[in-house]
Amino acid sequence: MSTRSGKTAVVTGASSGIGRASAEALARAGYTVFGTSRSKSGNGPTQVTMLTCDVTDGESVSDLVSTVLAQTGRIDLLVNNAGVGLLGGAEESSVAQVQALFDVNLFGVMRMTNAVLPAMRRRGEGRIINIGSILGLVPAPYSAHYSAVKHALEGYSESLDHEVRAFNIRVSVIEPAFVRTVFDQNGIEPDSLLQEYDQARTGLKALLADVMPKADRPEVVADAVVKAATDARPRRRYTAGKAARQVSLLRRFAPAEMFDKTLRKQFRLPV
Ligand SMILES: NC(=O)c1ccc[n+]([C@@H]2O[C@H](COP(=O)([O-])OP(=O)(O)OC[C@H]3O[C@@H](n4cnc5c(N)ncnc54)[C@H](OP(=O)(O)O)[C@@H]3O)[C@@H](O)[C@H]2O)c1
Repeated sequence: MSTRSGKTAVVTGASSGIGRASAEALARAGYTVFGTSRSKSGNGPTQVTMLTCDVTDGESVSDLVSTVLAQTGRIDLLVNNAGVGLLGGAEESSVAQVQALFDVNLFGVMRMTNAVLPAMRRRGEGRIINIGSILGLVPAPYSAHYSAVKHALEGYSESLDHEVRAFNIRVSVIEPAFVRTVFDQNGIEPDSLLQEYDQARTGLKALLADVMPKADRPEVVADAVVKAATDARPRRRYTAGKAARQVSLLRRFAPAEMFDKTLRKQFRLPV
């Protein structure tokens, strides 16, 4: 693997899961890596400098970017990974709760991106990698808001890529399927639970209990991050892992009715 000595990467949400694995993989690939967490913890990823940042707080984002620029003078790569989940019936979450989800998963990405772009434009190069999801391609039941925010991230990323390519900056989205992390435990619980969805909730928990032990390791996503960071001609989208590749292909080429039936069966819904 080629080394990127001299290049600086910032990875949000590097305290666990995909962010942690990506930060470590980028460090191994030769980047000087700064990872973030909202809390100061001694147990950061190997060879990564951890800094505090809450992506929902503009001042915190601007402090982070200033600190990194003061230390290295450049940010070559931003990996927008920080994110939270929200599973449940669409009507089981208040608008305020959905706004909180968007504040991390979409507006957090925008805050970070707007903060690094001036330095990237000045240097005339840069890469931004956004961690999306297969749910940004395929809206699934009981994840309406999470699917919505990941679809929004896809649209934002593609538009941005058109705009900043003139400055030699590229934007890519990584699309993983299920990944074995503590994402489920860290997810937001719906604030307006309805007993009408109790059965669906039980089915969803059974589905997660079934797929999670077989899900991809975060390192599979980290490999896609390093590829997007180092490809001579980066692509707009990288699926990460076999399951994500299969779903992406089926979504594009399978007849809509067949796709609908398969998805409903997986979620144990009547077809
Ligand atoms: N796991 C999956 O199945 C899966 C599948 C597809 C896509 N994804 C996406 O992958 C990304 C990472 O998820 P993961 O599975 O690795 O989950 P995770 O292990 O729960 O990690 C989430 C990270 O986000 C950080 N974070 C949360 N809220 C934040 C905030 N307001 N400001 C800054 N950082 C914040 C957390 O850091 P602190 O708590 O230390 O602040 C943590 O490091 C997310 O964008 C998620 O949507 C996950």
